[in-house]
Amino acid sequence: MKAIVYTKYGTPEVLQLKEVARPTPRDDEVLIKVRAASVNRSDWENLIGKPLYARIGGLRRPRRQMLGSDIAGRVEAIGENARRFRPGDEVFGLLWGYKGGFAEYACTRETALAPKPGSMTFEEAASIPQAASIAVQGIRDKGQVQRGQKVLISGAGGGAGMFAVQLAKLYGAEVTGVDNTLKLEFMRSLGADHVIDYTREDFTRNGKQYDLILDIVAHRSVFAYKRALRPSGSYYLAGGSVATILQILLLGPWIKGTTGKKIRLLTVQPNPEDMVYMTDLCEAGKVVPVIDRRYPLSETPEALRHLGEGRTRGKVVITM
Ligand SMILES: NC(=O)c1ccc[n+]([C@@H]2O[C@H](COP(=O)([O-])OP(=O)(O)OC[C@H]3O[C@@H](n4cnc5c(N)ncnc54)[C@H](OP(=O)(O)O)[C@@H]3O)[C@@H](O)[C@H]2O)c1
Repeated sequence: MKAIVYTKYGTPEVLQLKEVARPTPRDDEVLIKVRAASVNRSDWENLIGKPLYARIGGLRRPRRQMLGSDIAGRVEAIGENARRFRPGDEVFGLLWGYKGGFAEYACTRETALAPKPGSMTFEEAASIPQAASIAVQGIRDKGQVQRGQKVLISGAGGGAGMFAVQLAKLYGAEVTGVDNTLKLEFMRSLGADHVIDYTREDFTRNGKQYDLILDIVAHRSVFAYKRALRPSGSYYLAGGSVATILQILLLGPWIKGTTGKKIRLLTVQPNPEDMVYMTDLCEAGKVVPVIDRRYPLSETPEALRHLGEGRTRGKVVITM
């Protein structure tokens, strides 16, 4: 099968389209003929090897030489103990720990997959898994957003942010979106009540405070985030610098104990039910999965460059 492969960390030029062996499903695994795969910032981080956590499992060079964790496609074959799907079923899901979605076929455990809704295209379904899981677990589960609350989403113009803004609005929050200059209109179109251009304004220094901050790209100190929280407000980091992550682990509990403000990491648990929750909202027309651009498999390096250079609004999708 054709697949995008890389053997060293670097810019998109290190990615190569190669002929590789098709995976074989074992035990409870399912082989999927991929129809669409979406690009996440985690693919970019795993490509360039930064932040440092992107090198877990391969400090000097990537141990898993394929990227791509969100896919939608058709079941081609099932392992001996797989029971939930049959060949021909349309599915979508997260290749958590497996990766290899930027390929004609991919394997994963059947429990990582959900049936693709008939009314959604493969591209729309592929845009859901990782980004929607961050949004659902950050806004609904950890954030427990209530009507009238003030919610700030930093990184609101990207994949996870796009779902998070729409979800927070659905729950009745007053939403502030933070992203770069090119994405201000996009954030407004998602429903954000206020937008902040991170290249011009630091949301932790404008005197405003929020009940919930969901930070997709965190790089400030915990004290800056504390400043931007209302009393008993919560901050969750979904992605960001290792320095910020370490500070949160070390100082978050102390800040909670002394001020009541919660500053935590969001540890996303792979859960197909969350993906289905989001596709139900999409089918009901309450959330729109915005696909910024589509690229063929051979142009995966371009797709990653588009995201890495900060031009993506919503999701970028690879089509097979
Ligand atoms: N916690 C977990 O368990 C878990 C699980 C999966 C993934 N993740 C992480 O969650 C993140 C998900 O990102 P994604 O796929 O949604 O990325 P994305 O589509 O690239 O969106 C991120 C957005 O943040 C913007 N941004 C960059 N720097 C910013 C800043 N200083 N302030 C505000 N916005 C900024 C980006 O704009 P530019 O284009 O200007 O850079 C982009 O629009 C990744 O870091 C991933 O590793 C976490």
